[in-house]
Amino acid sequence: MKYNLVEMYVDDEIREKAIDVINSKRYIKGPESKAFEREFADYLGVKGAVTTSSGTTALHLIYYALGIGRGDEIIAPSHTFIATVSPAIHLGARPVFADIKEDTYNIDLEDVRKKITERTKAIVAVHLYGHPAEMKALREIADEHGIYLVEDACQAHGAEYYGKRVANFGDIAAFSFFPSKVMTVAGDGGMVAGNNEEILERIAMLRDQGRTTKYEHTALGFNFRMSEILAGIGRIQLKHLDEWVERRNEIARIYGEMLKDEVIIPEIKSYVRHAFYVYTIRVKDRETLREYLHKNDIGTGIYYPIPVHLQPIIKGIVKHLELPITERIVDEIISLPMHPFMSDEDVEYIASKVLEFVRR
Ligand SMILES: Cc1ncc(COP(=O)(O)O)c(C=O)c1O
Repeated sequence: MKYNLVEMYVDDEIREKAIDVINSKRYIKGPESKAFEREFADYLGVKGAVTTSSGTTALHLIYYALGIGRGDEIIAPSHTFIATVSPAIHLGARPVFADIKEDTYNIDLEDVRKKITERTKAIVAVHLYGHPAEMKALREIADEHGIYLVEDACQAHGAEYYGKRVANFGDIAAFSFFPSKVMTVAGDGGMVAGNNEEILERIAMLRDQGRTTKYEHTALGFNFRMSEILAGIGRIQLKHLDEWVERRNEIARIYGEMLKDEVIIPEIKSYVRHAFYVYTIRVKDRETLREYLHKNDIGTGIYYPIPVHLQPIIKGIVKHLELPITERIVDEIISLPMHPFMSDEDVEYIASKVLEFVRR
């Protein structure tokens, strides 16, 4: 495709860093991971961060550290990636899915309230597409019921809510550096971040085989560590993050100006800074638009065509459930190319092709 859906960033500093770390022969638990954790936490304005091998393992460590297991329930949206809930299911917990709001595609507060039971252990707020969920209200609900609030910030690096970066609102947050994300590490990688030092400390211990000292294991942990090469690359990417998020917002403005009268464009609440991991619009004949754009060399994505509660492996473990907004919008959503390296002309061309299609 001439116009790719996403594009990764590589420069000489990244290439040199990879070679330097290889030559250093220090591949895990070294200075790059330590520095990446400090710099990422400082960027977010939180007390600490812990590198992990992926966003999925970041969430796994979070659920495990919070003691979520057999007999427990977590409330999460279904309009998300399966890894929002799959680690909790591995631990024996049951996902309870709430519907979303049609404007931001984030979890519906009223539905969350309805679904809380005495078994609920946590609410998982996914900042979908990079737009923060309603964290103030979710915090109130969680506090009212004495349950945890987890931020799945895997799509929201650099997003802000009332002037503060995501990861400042829940008890703990997970990020992913999967190759399509707003920032990457040239491989799989993730980060846990937040202000609760006790939880962070436990997560760091569980990530490294439950070790408290080199030969002593006080918990049954995992090996969910990040490679030093990847951490080094992450540090370089982090330096660009803010300018990238800014550019993503500019691109969204151009798309929005051109498309707002013809398709449903993403809503940006006045009190957030959107990270625009993806730019998702809604149209009635999504599949034909998709074919049309592909014919014109324009890549597209569907995040996500099958909601989690309807996935073959999940259907059997959730009781009969209807999520009307989730189930309707999944047939209408389509994501257009979005990455900071697109020119204004690229964006205008793509938008003009969408307009050509809807006005045909
Ligand atoms: C919302 C959400 N949660 C969890 C994940 C899992 O992250 P990873 O692919 O790094 O395991 C992703 C990304 O893939 C995601 O978008």
